[in-house]
Amino acid sequence: MYELQNIVKSYRRRQQEVLAFHAESFTVETGEYVAVVGPSGSGKTTLLSMLGGMLSPDTGRVVYDGQSLYDLAVAERTQWRRKAIGFVFQTFNLIPYLTAVENVQVPLFLHGLPSAEQRDRAAALLEQVGLAERMDHKPGELSTGQQQRVALARTLANDPGVILADEPTGNLDPDSCEVVLSLFDRFVSDGRTIIMVTHDPAAARRAARQVKLQNGQISEPADDVLERAA
Ligand SMILES: Nc1ncnc2c1ncn2[C@@H]1O[C@H](COP(=O)(O)OP(=O)(O)OP(=O)(O)O)[C@@H](O)[C@H]1O
Ligand SMILES: [Mg+2]
Repeated sequence: MYELQNIVKSYRRRQQEVLAFHAESFTVETGEYVAVVGPSGSGKTTLLSMLGGMLSPDTGRVVYDGQSLYDLAVAERTQWRRKAIGFVFQTFNLIPYLTAVENVQVPLFLHGLPSAEQRDRAAALLEQVGLAERMDHKPGELSTGQQQRVALARTLANDPGVILADEPTGNLDPDSCEVVLSLFDRFVSDGRTIIMVTHDPAAARRAARQVKLQNGQISEPADDVLERAA
């Protein structure tokens, strides 16, 4: 489903060029659960951004179900992203002046769902992540773990086929961490795809496949990855 072909991505800052990511070929099949590990600055977020249609490579193609993403017009790519992709960030990017249920409604609103349906679906999702009692709280009135669960409910709102997660458990206590990872397990058992950046070896082990990034280059050694993931 995902195919990276001859990708080079570098950033230029003050005369200095940083080769952030390169790969001749990298494939993720539908239904795979892939953990991406690697040191800070190794290109993990760069990779996720390119997979999410948010960052164009300098050369090469990112192909999703036969479609080369960066050959689409910007508006088409945005539409594709809203439909197909759910992002989970380390910082949750909740809107501070909206309540939990309103935050979850945002993607549904963007999708054009009638407002009563938005509210019902958002409430059901919050219930699923154990936050039925916190619907009308704003992010500032929620714990970190609760905020991440609201963010996760929002991610799931449009029923994406793919989750791209950038250190989704980085800021969480063990209980909240488990809530997130169990939801991911369920998501994958539905036949959907997850690509998850993590520094947590235990989280990486939940994925069926682990890849490692170093200096912008992917490798799939197996054994040492999990011990050194942190
Ligand atoms: N907007 C940018 N401008 C210039 N250089 C950048 C930019 N974004 C990232 N880089 C550089 O590209 C490289 C890869 O960055 P990236 O954010 O993908 O790393 P990462 O693996 O996600 O790191 P971390 O674990 O710290 O989040 C780094 O060397 C970084 O300094
Ligand atoms: Mg990063």
